[in-house]
Amino acid sequence: MKITKICCIGAGYVGGPTMAIIAQKCPQIQVTVVDLNEERIAAWNDADVNNIPIYEPGLSEIVKEARGRNLFFSTAVDQAIDEAEMIFISVNTPTKTYGKGKGMAADLKYIELCARQIARVSKSNKIVVEKSTLPVRTAEAIKSILDNTGNGVKFQILSNPEFLAEGTAVQDLLHPDRILIGGDTTAEGQKAIQALVDVYANWVAVDKILTTNVWSSELSKLTANAFLAQRISSINAMSELCEKTGADVNEVARAIGMDSRIGPKFLKASVGFGGSCFQKDILNLVYIAKSYGLQEVADYWEQVIIMNDHQKRRFSDTIVKTLYNTVSDKKIAFLGWAFKKDTNDTRESAAIYVADDLINENAKIAVYDPKVSRKKVLADLDYLQTRTADENAKSILSFENPYEACSNAHAVAILTEWDEFVAYDWQKIYDAMQKPAFVFDGRNILDKAVLEKIGFVYQAIGS
Ligand code: UDX
Ligand code: UDX
Repeated sequence: MKITKICCIGAGYVGGPTMAIIAQKCPQIQVTVVDLNEERIAAWNDADVNNIPIYEPGLSEIVKEARGRNLFFSTAVDQAIDEAEMIFISVNTPTKTYGKGKGMAADLKYIELCARQIARVSKSNKIVVEKSTLPVRTAEAIKSILDNTGNGVKFQILSNPEFLAEGTAVQDLLHPDRILIGGDTTAEGQKAIQALVDVYANWVAVDKILTTNVWSSELSKLTANAFLAQRISSINAMSELCEKTGADVNEVARAIGMDSRIGPKFLKASVGFGGSCFQKDILNLVYIAKSYGLQEVADYWEQVIIMNDHQKRRFSDTIVKTLYNTVSDKKIAFLGWAFKKDTNDTRESAAIYVADDLINENAKIAVYDPKVSRKKVLADLDYLQTRTADENAKSILSFENPYEACSNAHAVAILTEWDEFVAYDWQKIYDAMQKPAFVFDGRNILDKAVLEKIGFVYQAIGS
C-alpha cells in the first residue's frame, strides 16, 4: 500500500516537528497536521515562520520549505481524517488529575476522543499510528473503539513511539538512532507496518527501522525514558555524596563515562530533570507495575522520581541556607526557566519548583530566559496552586535583559544550561550585585576558577 496522504492529530512538540520532517523528506506525500487549538494552528500558519509556536533549532527553515507545498496546518480535523490513508495520533497524554490512578496513570481521554472521531469520520480503510507515549495495551483499546463504532471500514493500529528530544528535535528526526514500529503479526498488520517503513525509508537506513509487536513497541518507549531518567537520578544521587565528601561529580561522571559499558551521555548532574516525558512516563510505568501487583518493580522505578524531587528541593534549600538562612525580600536572579536549553518548553521544569520553594520563603525572583515569556512563567506557577495569581505576580520580576535581572540581586541561580549564559560578562554582573555575590550553578556550566577570581561565592551541583 502506497501512502499519499497523511493526517496527524496534535500539532504539539511531537506532532509538529515530526510531520515537518516527513513532509520535507517525502514531497510526494501530502501531510496535514490538525489540532483543536485554533490559536496554535494560526501560529503554525503565520506568514512569518519565526512565529511558529514551537522553537526548535532548524525547524522554521524546514516549515518554510514545505509549508503550502505538501505540509498543511488546519483545524478541519474531519476533512483531514477522511482524506488520509494514514493517521498519526500525537495528542497529549498528561498524568491523570482525577479519579483512579490520579497523579500516576496517563489520562487517555484525548486518545479515546481521537479514536471515536476517526471511527465516525472514516469511509475508507485507514492505518492509525500511535505517536503519543501510551501505556502498554492502549492500542487494544483504540482498536476496540474503532472496530465497534466505525462504519465497517478496516483499521490497522501501529505503535510508532517518538524518541526525539526537545532542543535537538530536527537533528534527532533527521538522524534517528532507530525507528520503532509495532504492529499486528497478521498479514494485514504486516502490510501496514511495511507502509510506514516505506515512509521512513525515504531518509532512514532500513537497518535502523525495527519492527516488533505492538506491546513491545509501546513498552520500549516507557522503558527508554525510564532508563534515561534513572541515569540522571543516579548521577544526582552521587552529586549529594560528592558534596559531603569533597569529590567532584563532574570528575566522577567523566571517569565512569569512559567505561564503554556505561558510556558518557546523560551523566550530567543537575538541579533535576524536567520535561513533559520523564516524570509522566515513569509514573505511568509505576502505575502499570502496581496494577499487575508488582510492588517491588513499582517501588524500584518510583525511587527515580523521589530522587529527582529531592534534588530540586535540595537546590532551593542550599540557596536559603547559604544566604544566611533567609531570603525574605532578597532578589534572586534566575537565569533560565525552560526545562533544558534550546527549547521554549517549560513543562515540569525544575525552575518552577525551585521558584515555588523560594517564594514560600518570601524571596523575589527575577527571571530571564531567552525564549520564555513572563506570561508563561506566571502560568507555570499559578498551575501549582500554591498561592494566588496576584501573589505570584508580586513575587516574580521578569526582565528582557539578563544584566538587569541580576542587578542588585543577592544571588544568581542557573536553572537552564543556555549557551549564552557562559558567554556573559560576569565581571559586569558581579559589579551590579549585592555583596557577597553568590552564584548557584544548577547546571554546572560556569567556570568555578573564573567566577571565584572575580569575587563570587560559587556553588555548583556535586562539588
Ligand atoms: C504529546 C504527548 O504528551 C506525548 O506523550 C507524546 O509522546 C507525544 O504527544 P507533545 O506533542 O509534546 O506530546 O504535546 P503537546 O505539545 O501538548 O501537543 C498536543 C496537541 O494535541 C495540542 O496542541 C492539543 O491542542 C492537541 N489536541 C489534544 C488535539 O488536537 N485534540 C485533542 O483531542 C487533544
Ligand atoms: C526525553 C528523551 O530523551 C526522548 O528520547 C523522549 O522522546 C522524550 O523525553 P526530552 O525530555 O525532550 O527528551 O529531553 P532530554 O534531553 O531527555 O532531557 C530531559 C531532562 O533531563 C532535561 O531537564 C535535561 O536538562 C535533563 N538532563 C538530561 C540532565 O539533567 N542531565 C543529563 O545528563 C541529561
